[in-house]
Amino acid sequence: MNTLLTQGIHIPQLGFGTFRMPGGDCQPAVESALEVGYRHIDTAEMYQNEAAVGAAIAAAALPREALHVTTKVWHEHLGPGAIERALESSLAKLGLDYVDLYMIHWPAAGMNLPAALQVLEAQRQAGRIRAIGVCNFNLPLLRLAVEEVGAAIACHQVEYHPFLDQGPMLAYLRSQRIPLVAYAPLAQGRAAADPTLARIGSKHGASAAQIAIAWLLDQPGVIAIPKAQRRASQVANLQAVNLRLDDQDRAAIAALPKGQRFVTPPFAPRWDA
Ligand SMILES: NC(=O)c1ccc[n+]([C@@H]2O[C@H](COP(=O)([O-])OP(=O)(O)OC[C@H]3O[C@@H](n4cnc5c(N)ncnc54)[C@H](OP(=O)(O)O)[C@@H]3O)[C@@H](O)[C@H]2O)c1
Repeated sequence: MNTLLTQGIHIPQLGFGTFRMPGGDCQPAVESALEVGYRHIDTAEMYQNEAAVGAAIAAAALPREALHVTTKVWHEHLGPGAIERALESSLAKLGLDYVDLYMIHWPAAGMNLPAALQVLEAQRQAGRIRAIGVCNFNLPLLRLAVEEVGAAIACHQVEYHPFLDQGPMLAYLRSQRIPLVAYAPLAQGRAAADPTLARIGSKHGASAAQIAIAWLLDQPGVIAIPKAQRRASQVANLQAVNLRLDDQDRAAIAALPKGQRFVTPPFAPRWDA
């Protein structure tokens, strides 16, 4: 498994997502994911499954340094004192002394971003976070964090799949050597039914879902975190790291309609800002 080096941490390029997988379903799924070879687990306080993720990690009994764990602070917990409390609670639920990556899950309107990033930096220096990340920032917010605040942003996690263009965001992130973590890399499962991806897959002896993942991993500086409850899908997604697309495949995927964003909560920032 390739890893990407950013802000001193190595992140496995394919991770395992856990959104919409509450506790009871989550623990066996993460245990299975760790058994079949995932070493990068993505959770968040909002997913309400950190305790289940922690139980699965404990059951796997892997050396801690063999595992990359990401969790996220919810946008209502960015005020004074709240980040520290959220992190404390996440670490307790996960049963860990530190997380590898701690991310702001969504920007909040009116938040004091410099202050929030300072708290994260202090937690990093205290050893409870190995690196700091953000999710769902638009370009002006990201520029503020990186260029004005000067925060050591290790990753930006955003929706990215064959049906959504992230060209300007990727160009900026690459200019700053910050990896993009693609969430909803299968367009929440829709990629599995796409005829273009299926046709490319038939050429490679692969499924449409595997082609969507291979397309993301083919791009410099991109990490993908598909979620799969079923073990067969977990294995298939992991095997996608071995697929190699050609220029014809890339051109066919480039020609797909690219305006489909599926994660748009009311508190999302203006994406076109
Ligand atoms: N930062 C954020 O705001 C944010 C937002 C959304 C997501 N995320 C993260 O990104 C992760 C991934 O996104 P997501 O869970 O929304 O969507 P996704 O990974 O794009 O899609 C998950 C869906 O695809 C299905 N699937 C997985 N592998 C498959 C395969 N090989 N063939 C066919 N179907 C397959 C899954 O089915 P089964 O599970 O039934 O097997 C599930 O229904 C999340 O779990 C979360 O960790 C972050």
